Amino acid sequence: MADSACRELIVKAIFICLLKLAFSYSFRSCIEIPDSNHKTFRCIKCHETDITTIVSDVFPTATNLTVSRNNLTHIQGQSFHHLYKLTSLVLDANHIASIHKDAFNNLQNLQMLNLSCNCISSLHPDVFSDLHNLTELLLGNNNLTYIDLFLFSSLTNLQILDLRGNHLKNISSLVECITNLSSLIQLDLSFNNLTTLHHSTRLPNSLAKLYLSDNKLHKLGCDKSFLKYVKVLDLSDNKLLSSKTFQGLNLKSIKYLRLRFTNVSTSKLLNYTNIQPRHIDFSGLKLKHHALTSLCFHLRYHQIPKMVLQSNSIRVLYKNTFCNCSSITDLMDLSWNEMKTTSCLQFLHCQNQLETLKIEHNHLTRLMSCDTFKILYSLKSLSYRYNRILRVSGYAFSNTPNLTNLELNINIIAYLDHKALSGLRDLVTLRLDNNLLTDIYNDTFEDLTNLKTLNMRNNQIAVIFNYAFQYLSNLIILDLGGNKITQMRPHAFDRLKSLANLYLDRNRLKEIDSTLIGKLHATLQVLDLQANHILYFTEHTYSPFINMSRLLDLKLDAQEPNGINLLPRAFFRGLTSLKSLYLTNNHIIGFGAETFDDLKSLEFLTLDNSCVGIAQLKPGIFKNLRKLKTLSIENMGIKSFSKEVFGNLTGLKQLHLNRNAMMSLDISLLDNLTNLTYVDMRSCPLSCGCRNSELQNWTISSKRLQFPYLFNITCQDHPGSFFHNFDTNVCYLDIALYLFSSTFTFTILLSLIPLLYVRLYWKFKYGYYVFRSWFGEQWRRLRDQEEKYIYDAFVSYNSADEDWVMEQLLPNLEGSSFRLCLHHRDFELGRDIVDNIVAAVYGSRKTICVVSQSFLRSEWCSLEIQLASYRLFQEMQDVLLLVFLEPIPERQLSTYHRMRKVMLKKTYLQWPGPNCSDPNSAKELFWNQLKRALRSSNTGSQEEQKMKEQNDQRRQDKEGADQEEREYFVNQTPIDDEVYYLMP
Ligand SMILES: *[C@@H]1O[C@H](CO)[C@@H](O)[C@H](O)[C@H]1NC(C)=O
Ligand SMILES: *[C@@H]1O[C@H](CO)[C@@H](O)[C@H](O)[C@H]1NC(C)=O
Repeated sequence: MADSACRELIVKAIFICLLKLAFSYSFRSCIEIPDSNHKTFRCIKCHETDITTIVSDVFPTATNLTVSRNNLTHIQGQSFHHLYKLTSLVLDANHIASIHKDAFNNLQNLQMLNLSCNCISSLHPDVFSDLHNLTELLLGNNNLTYIDLFLFSSLTNLQILDLRGNHLKNISSLVECITNLSSLIQLDLSFNNLTTLHHSTRLPNSLAKLYLSDNKLHKLGCDKSFLKYVKVLDLSDNKLLSSKTFQGLNLKSIKYLRLRFTNVSTSKLLNYTNIQPRHIDFSGLKLKHHALTSLCFHLRYHQIPKMVLQSNSIRVLYKNTFCNCSSITDLMDLSWNEMKTTSCLQFLHCQNQLETLKIEHNHLTRLMSCDTFKILYSLKSLSYRYNRILRVSGYAFSNTPNLTNLELNINIIAYLDHKALSGLRDLVTLRLDNNLLTDIYNDTFEDLTNLKTLNMRNNQIAVIFNYAFQYLSNLIILDLGGNKITQMRPHAFDRLKSLANLYLDRNRLKEIDSTLIGKLHATLQVLDLQANHILYFTEHTYSPFINMSRLLDLKLDAQEPNGINLLPRAFFRGLTSLKSLYLTNNHIIGFGAETFDDLKSLEFLTLDNSCVGIAQLKPGIFKNLRKLKTLSIENMGIKSFSKEVFGNLTGLKQLHLNRNAMMSLDISLLDNLTNLTYVDMRSCPLSCGCRNSELQNWTISSKRLQFPYLFNITCQDHPGSFFHNFDTNVCYLDIALYLFSSTFTFTILLSLIPLLYVRLYWKFKYGYYVFRSWFGEQWRRLRDQEEKYIYDAFVSYNSADEDWVMEQLLPNLEGSSFRLCLHHRDFELGRDIVDNIVAAVYGSRKTICVVSQSFLRSEWCSLEIQLASYRLFQEMQDVLLLVFLEPIPERQLSTYHRMRKVMLKKTYLQWPGPNCSDPNSAKELFWNQLKRALRSSNTGSQEEQKMKEQNDQRRQDKEGADQEEREYFVNQTPIDDEVYYLMP
């Protein structure tokens, strides 16, 4: 218990490792069967001879694994250790000679193991010890001479054991090996070297089928009850086996006994054993006319539903041969005999319940008229396949009028009389294929009104005449492939009211006659026109399929001798239900971008080998094929794709690009193909250069997508090296440099940011808002060129100065009918503060900044100044008025770098402080100056020009300036020469 838990843990750990290693979704030697959900894998005919290497990258999800036709010679221990989910493992047709005893360790789920057709001569007794769930073990066609007693001892669920084609001699030891396999149902020991059935122990009771043909049995030598439970027993081709050895044998369970080509006499067998005669296959027992007559006499009281009489060299049968076997009801099989004539089946005249008769592989040469013979009403199915029938006369089936199935195929029928099939009103299936018929007469099928399938493939028919099938209104399948049809007359398909499948492949038709097939539009689903002589010279041909809205499957591939050439532009118009379209092996000169536009239901499209030289698929060529699941465009000389080629193929699962001229593939082309699971790019001259480095990376690491045989793809430009592992490092060098420099810059920035944050925080922030305001302004300008100002001034102040604003500024200015905008009063509620400020600054002719210590500390006020000064600087609009409520030392102002700049550039007013000599007149002067400034126009007015001149003048005699005036105005030490004062 603990041991198995531990083992499971280890196994899991190994799986995880393997999963990590196996990130490639391509397999060195295998392919995953598309749509198998990572379950079915095939590794066939690869050049690897080491099984561990072959299966190492198969996903642990695998349940069915086939490793066939490789040159394996040895199976190592633990070869399939990671594939613990396997239920089926096929290793046939290799050259396996030895198998390690731990080779199949861990395959507890395995149900089927096929080791057939190898060179195994011995097996270690423990080799199958883990396979507790194995139900089927196939070891046929090896060199086994001996089986170890314990070889099968763990296989308690084994049902089928195949040991045919070995060199086993000793049945006794074999029976000992299997005697405890209580589930064993079937044991095949054919083609071995057994000479007797002498045994020491018994067969499992469950064993129902025992095949012992082609051994060297000359006697059975077994216990009388040895075969007591066996139901199916094949002893054929043991040429020395005689009746005597069956004496007393208990064969009561037998349901089928085959004794072909033995020396057994049926009558003796029936005397010696308790076998039911109806369960004997009478083939190959030299039962000719006389023996048959006496056999039937022997069986006259028995029910014999099936009488199989193959290979008895029967030449003639007489009227009375079977009269004592009148109870044959189901089947009489006379194949592989030497009959030259059927004699209108007169030998069946006593069998009035027989349903099926087979006379295949005989020497029949003609079927004559039978209208005067006894009618065999019960016969429903009749087969004369593989004879030499040249001629079928009129009324050949008149005495078998109830046939539903008639097989005349694989003969040399050249003459089929107009009336040959007369009277077969119930016929459902008629096989006339592989004969030499040249003509169909319009009354050939006159009575076959219930026919559903008519197969005339591989004859010599050249012309289909009018009304050839006029009576076949129930026909569903008509196969005329492989004839020499060059012509079909306009009414050839008239009255085929139910036809769904029409095969006209491999004929010599030069065109698709739309009126002819148009008559089948209501029912036709499959149309096969492969390998005819259809050829177009112009794009301007109408669609021959215009009404074929039910057609599901259309084959037009391989037109002789050189392809269809030009696809008319709207060739497929009308095929709205089509699911599969085959156009391979045609020389098509370019596909128009709208060629496939109507095929909205298409799921399968193949264009392999369909181009002349280098093909370029037009953008949008597949644009409507949203349901397409498989697209095969192999060997079309395609060099590259544009993204629009695959644009809409969202349903695509498989893409076959084999043997094209692409040297690279841009993987972003496949971005939209979200359902893609399989891309086959074998035999493309892929370049192992940097432009494919992404593709390489992608094929190796793609999880959802299989790239079959990736590891076999070689480099076009570097012979001898492989695509999957070419060196892509060189491609990433530039990226490394880029990464280095960007990281470096980033690091430098990171160390600078705190510094800049401290120094330039407000600069950044202002910059941002300035940009916003600039942007908003551009937008505003666009929106409204002629916007009127709502306010005369927007007052920007700090709440600490609110008293002064409300008590001094407001009464003074609004009293003089100035409209003021105050943030607490006029800002729109719910609007972003910045937007409000922007709106206020731009909605007012001027902005008054009430500057105090608190103002300078408030960020929003600073922002307001910024916006206003932006207008000032950037738009040459003189909008900013600074009002200083208290004297602010220059030292302090210098921190507000920008404000200082504004101050130096523009006007400002000083509110007369309490320690002013004449506060009242000073205040009056202040209000006058402010009102005047508010009234002044914004842009470069004459007044300002005048003021500037005055200021300039004043600067010149600055020394003699009035002391009082100096008190009202902040007297900054001028930093540059542009300082001037606003004067009353
Ligand atoms: C197996 O070996 C034979 C010769 O021993 C060779 O002809 C054949 O090509 C090999 N098959 C594979 C799949 O490598
Ligand atoms: C896989 O193997 C199981 C068990 O032998 C079998 O029943 C099943 O049909 C196999 N599936 C395929 C897809 O071959």
